[in-house]
Amino acid sequence: MFFGGSRNLVGLDIGDSSIKVVELKDRGKGRGYEVVKLGWEPLSSEAIVDGAIMDSQLVIETITRLFQRCRIKTTKVATALSGHSVIVKRISLPNMSEAELAESIQWEAEQYIPFDIDDVNLDYQILDASSLDGEGSMDVLLAAAKKDKINDYVNVITEAGLTPAVVDIAAFALQNAFEVNYEFEPHEVIALVDVGAAVSSISVLYGGTSIYWRDINTGGNAYTDAIQKELNLSAVQADQLKRGEEIDGIPYERVLPILSAVNDDVGNEIQKTLDFFKQISPTDEPLDKLCLTGGTAQVVHLKEALAERLNTTVELLNPFRMIEPTGREATPDLVNEMMPTASVAVGLALRKAGD
Ligand SMILES: Nc1ncnc2c1ncn2[C@@H]1O[C@H](COP(=O)(O)OP(=O)(O)OP(=O)(O)O)[C@@H](O)[C@H]1O
Ligand SMILES: [Mg+2]
Repeated sequence: MFFGGSRNLVGLDIGDSSIKVVELKDRGKGRGYEVVKLGWEPLSSEAIVDGAIMDSQLVIETITRLFQRCRIKTTKVATALSGHSVIVKRISLPNMSEAELAESIQWEAEQYIPFDIDDVNLDYQILDASSLDGEGSMDVLLAAAKKDKINDYVNVITEAGLTPAVVDIAAFALQNAFEVNYEFEPHEVIALVDVGAAVSSISVLYGGTSIYWRDINTGGNAYTDAIQKELNLSAVQADQLKRGEEIDGIPYERVLPILSAVNDDVGNEIQKTLDFFKQISPTDEPLDKLCLTGGTAQVVHLKEALAERLNTTVELLNPFRMIEPTGREATPDLVNEMMPTASVAVGLALRKAGD
């Protein structure tokens, strides 16, 4: 379910604050990709709350409208789950055959997954034989997602007349979007951080191999909530101020300290996650770089606050860095507009469907 196949799909990222769609064309022969269709539609804050679909009808209508508006004909899609109903772990198991692994994985997984094993869909992949843990053991990537959550996402996609060919995990999609656009040095440690509205997905790469994944419950909503409370405003007004838009009677100087305080909170959560990674990291190399993406990456000074706190270089991830827009539907303006929010959708569009 979480790991690949062989035909092109449309990447459909159903986020808490908006739905994004990206269709790529594979140039073939390793010549890279073009983006041929892309677009997004906002979702009202009640439609999806912390990754849970509350208003399916609204989500279905929004997906349908988005596909029509973007003139997307392909109906097979790859979508992603994120947040607390998803668990991804790299586990070390004694060396065994694939058949043995298939038989024991369910039992092994129980120790690592904080949910009832009957409530989750489980997938796994044996990682590179050059195990990071030495001889006698092998590394296995274990991914689990709550069945009810998968069903909710699959249902809205099906109801919108589409076929959910792949259900991925946002942190994997993020990694794919990065890999197709950037090169890395053999010992480089890079953190990919997607700060969305409700969730932030983190993925750490070491020499181009992903070694850690974690979603944390923090994002752009925290800024809007804080502005709304402190200045006694509506959510719409708070959202405008967060984006640097002006509102009558409210000097921007009153907003800056609030943004800065939430930048600290968000930075603290990211730092805690990366500190935890360091404890289990197979390398002592420090973090070389953090690549930031997601709508919230645009909050004033978040990038700088993270660079200072983590003492590392922070770059904005451009999911279209090596992907050229072609055709009438994919205008350079639209590509620019979606640059901060399209990483997961691009990563999903790189997925291939199995049979
Ligand atoms: N210019 C901007 N400045 C600050 N924040 C912004 C800006 N544009 C969008 N945002 C915020 O970014 C968030 C949306 O980002 P994104 O589309 O990556 O999230 P999402 O995928 O919908 O949510 P999630 O990943 O949590 O499910 C919202 O909180 C939105 O208010
Ligand atoms: Mg998102």
